[in-house]
Amino acid sequence: MTRPHVLLSVAMSVDGYIDDASSERLRLSDAADFDRVDQVRADSDAILIGAETLRRDNPRLLVDSADRRAARIAAGKPEYPLKITVTASGDLDPTLRFWHHGGAKLVYTTDAGATRLADTLSGLADVVPLGTDLDFAVLLDDLGRRGIGRLMVEGGTRIHTAFLAADLADEIHLAVAPLLVGDSNAPRFLDPASYPGAPHRRMHLADVTQVGDIAVLRYLPKAIHP
Ligand SMILES: NC(=O)c1ccc[n+]([C@@H]2O[C@H](COP(=O)([O-])OP(=O)(O)OC[C@H]3O[C@@H](n4cnc5c(N)ncnc54)[C@H](OP(=O)(O)O)[C@@H]3O)[C@@H](O)[C@H]2O)c1
Repeated sequence: MTRPHVLLSVAMSVDGYIDDASSERLRLSDAADFDRVDQVRADSDAILIGAETLRRDNPRLLVDSADRRAARIAAGKPEYPLKITVTASGDLDPTLRFWHHGGAKLVYTTDAGATRLADTLSGLADVVPLGTDLDFAVLLDDLGRRGIGRLMVEGGTRIHTAFLAADLADEIHLAVAPLLVGDSNAPRFLDPASYPGAPHRRMHLADVTQVGDIAVLRYLPKAIHP
């Protein structure tokens, strides 16, 4: 069975933070960088974010460009990529914007989480229990069976950390915004973890692009560079 290609997408400050510690979402990307991300979304079969990002940021997670959506339809794809979230607890509010925009939605959860969500998300999303714990390799196997070829993962910290710690990420798009956050209570791109081969394994740096004042680095974490 073929697992999807997994692309982690993140924007961080120069000092490595992906948000500040306030209740307002920190805008790290500018309009040009959001447009770049919109293209990556349009090129994906599915987009995944963690339940905490859903609860905190309340994103719609759409392809904004009508032209890109039209191109998807012309290519025989659904207008919007499948939207996916991951929760162990099942603590997801049905009024979040995620459920009410775009196309199909999928929730990967535990058996306990599925029990909690059965009524809450009825008619809004497919809820898929994966057992007592969430295993991201099992999740990717399931997406492969559903015909998902390209998965874009948009965070947050715990989700990115889990994919990289399990060596399940094929590509990272790291957008570095020219600002400093400087607050130790703010979330970082990654948590400490036992990453395969750390600290000596080098990723392949596939590309460096400037988008306005943002540097976009493209890494291939599994391609070991000599
Ligand atoms: N700058 C960027 O590019 C960017 C992008 C996205 C997010 N962010 C920021 O990231 C922050 C949120 O990051 P976060 O780490 O707190 O949250 P997160 O990664 O978005 O979500 C974590 C949640 O996902 C579920 N989960 C994740 N891994 C799991 C596992 N292995 N087993 C079971 N459940 C798992 C749990 O949900 P339950 O608690 O429901 O069980 C957990 O609380 C926010 O501040 C957001 O703004 C920034």
